[in-house]
Amino acid sequence: MSVTPSSASRKLFVTTALPYANGAFHIGHIMEYIQADIWVRFMRMRGHEVNFVGADDAHGAPIMIAAEKAGVTPQEFVAKIAAGRQQYLDGFHIAFDNWHSTDGEENHALSKEIYRHLRDDAKLITTRTIEQFYDPVKNMFLPDRYIKGECPKCGAKDQYGDSCEVCSAVYAPTELRNPYSTLTGAAPVMKSSEHYFFRLSDPKCVDFLRSWALDPSRLQPEVANKAREWLDSDSGLGDWDISRDAPYFGIEIPDAPGKYFYVWLDAPIGYLASLKNHFDKAGRDFDAFLADPATEQYHFIGKDITYFHTLFWPAMLHFSGMKVPNNVFVHGFITVSGEKMSKSRGTGISPLRYLEIGMNPEWLRYYIAAKLNARVEDVDFNPEDFVARVNSDLVGKYINIASRAAGFIAKKFGGKLAMGWATADDPFLAGLRSAGDEVASLYEAREYGKALRLVMEQADLVNAYVDANKPWELAKDPANNARTQEVCSRLLEAFRILTLYLKPVLPALAAQVESLLNIAPLQWTDVGHALPDQHAMQPYSHLMTRVEPKMLDDLFEPPAEAEGSTKAAAAASDIEAIDAQITIDDFAKVDLRVARIVDCEAVEGSDKLLRLTLDVGEGRMRNVFSGIKSAYRPDDLKGKLTVMVANLAPRKMKFGVSEGMVLAASAKDEKSDPGIYILEPWPGAQPGMRIR
Ligand code: 2FM
Ligand code: ZN
Repeated sequence: MSVTPSSASRKLFVTTALPYANGAFHIGHIMEYIQADIWVRFMRMRGHEVNFVGADDAHGAPIMIAAEKAGVTPQEFVAKIAAGRQQYLDGFHIAFDNWHSTDGEENHALSKEIYRHLRDDAKLITTRTIEQFYDPVKNMFLPDRYIKGECPKCGAKDQYGDSCEVCSAVYAPTELRNPYSTLTGAAPVMKSSEHYFFRLSDPKCVDFLRSWALDPSRLQPEVANKAREWLDSDSGLGDWDISRDAPYFGIEIPDAPGKYFYVWLDAPIGYLASLKNHFDKAGRDFDAFLADPATEQYHFIGKDITYFHTLFWPAMLHFSGMKVPNNVFVHGFITVSGEKMSKSRGTGISPLRYLEIGMNPEWLRYYIAAKLNARVEDVDFNPEDFVARVNSDLVGKYINIASRAAGFIAKKFGGKLAMGWATADDPFLAGLRSAGDEVASLYEAREYGKALRLVMEQADLVNAYVDANKPWELAKDPANNARTQEVCSRLLEAFRILTLYLKPVLPALAAQVESLLNIAPLQWTDVGHALPDQHAMQPYSHLMTRVEPKMLDDLFEPPAEAEGSTKAAAAASDIEAIDAQITIDDFAKVDLRVARIVDCEAVEGSDKLLRLTLDVGEGRMRNVFSGIKSAYRPDDLKGKLTVMVANLAPRKMKFGVSEGMVLAASAKDEKSDPGIYILEPWPGAQPGMRIR
């Protein structure tokens, strides 16, 4: 592992994957941003220039369709999503320099420019006519995800066009039996259209990708293995279909009216577009920055989009004469207690909820960092482990050091530190400082878990010094003043160094410590600059609280409340889905009363209805027809109490007017239980009483 010395300043361009602009951030996005943000902050502390940008991935059919459903233009739709981004980024201290959109003008221009290079200079664009499903009602070609039908193997209904959820068969959408468009229900027809392809199968592409992706100093080993598999596969790399027909929300292809770039062509170009937007705003020269061979380009992404970033993207850049990425850093997914997150099981963590219930964002940053390494492994969020790591490491080991020492300095020594002991050969300092290079190497290599373990080992040694010297004992006797001041000063200098090591992960806490210690923002080289003798610090105020385990209960959304979960849960059980939420005022509109069934008889000519004569205490009787004949004999009901809707508009029926409705329960599926169960109040209720 080699680290470029921080004296040689580097110029970096760093991105995270661009999230689709069709929903709020989920915890997986936040994890990726935390991973990248830690790296960026570390690089900045080393004195490097970092340009860290993100953007919304705005284009594509799903966003176009979602906007249409919402009754707004796609532009309005994505603008609304974009407006919700900042609260998350600020909330978790993610310090992007710029956030833009792939629908911005820079991306339109850059995408067209790159395409023209690929077409005219590299001669890597070709056209081919392909046949595809077309929705004749909506007049559009159907992406596979909008086609369903019966599985060609087992006949299961409502299966997607790629595989069957019942028998796991894999097939092409054209093999589905009785296919239908999920947008309109119409039977799709086959229709042909001319598509544009990027000729990835061209030997010069394959040669370039071999040298780029299989360069042993580049990709993570497991990512390189995947790339090798793709490059070596018998079928080779296929040409990539980069066009979609109108209607499509995207960027129109030059010289091809009615044809748009497939969203995955212009999405990564959005990295460059956001950087350009950032540079333009700052009056900097974007072209010069990218043309500089010293500029380094890195992309943090999730494992599911490796193919796009290790094959298509470098090839697009290389053959259009642009800088290619120095590397792509791939991470795994986030799981909860070892399982994929699921809203319906109540294991979904909403980042916004995390912030709303007052959990400290730096607990999550610390916890995620402690679990991250440079491999493509999933990161597990385990509630008990979270509480333990934050409380015992972060608060118990690290914060403890300041809280043991800072108070005495303020109270007994006017806030002044005694630093005469802090010579270059002081063994206490030397030990702490010597960890710095390794911590730095580990950050740079994205081995955050190892970096934090090393820092906590140092914190353990400092805590051993606390226990050996017991400042609270020393402070009892004024005769020990000099010793007390030195012990506390040593602890605060140690705390300063540990804070520096933790600053990429805990930026807000580090800022608090910087103002407590009355020092300039810590840079990596400050490891070796001890606080000066008689340095005055600010009075201590509490830096970080412990996690209350109870908070974790509030963090997980109860299954019934989680968006979309009700239907999922209900589908898996025998009960009907719970209806859309209403307010108490909505409920109050329904006037429910206890009613006595004064009389009851079968309705001649109807095999479903009984005629009930009901008394709800109004001084008159009501006539109500009820479809409960299959379940009750009239005589069994006479004299009983039940519940009725008393303010339902009277309804004229074939057999007379019905002046209300009696309440009864039934199963979702009458085949599983054909019973009808009328409601009966508990003893003591009287006719006319209102149910509220
Ligand atoms: O998978 C996704 O969420 C895509 N929106 C990622 C795009 S990354 C880059 F190419 F823009
Ligand atoms: Zn099947």
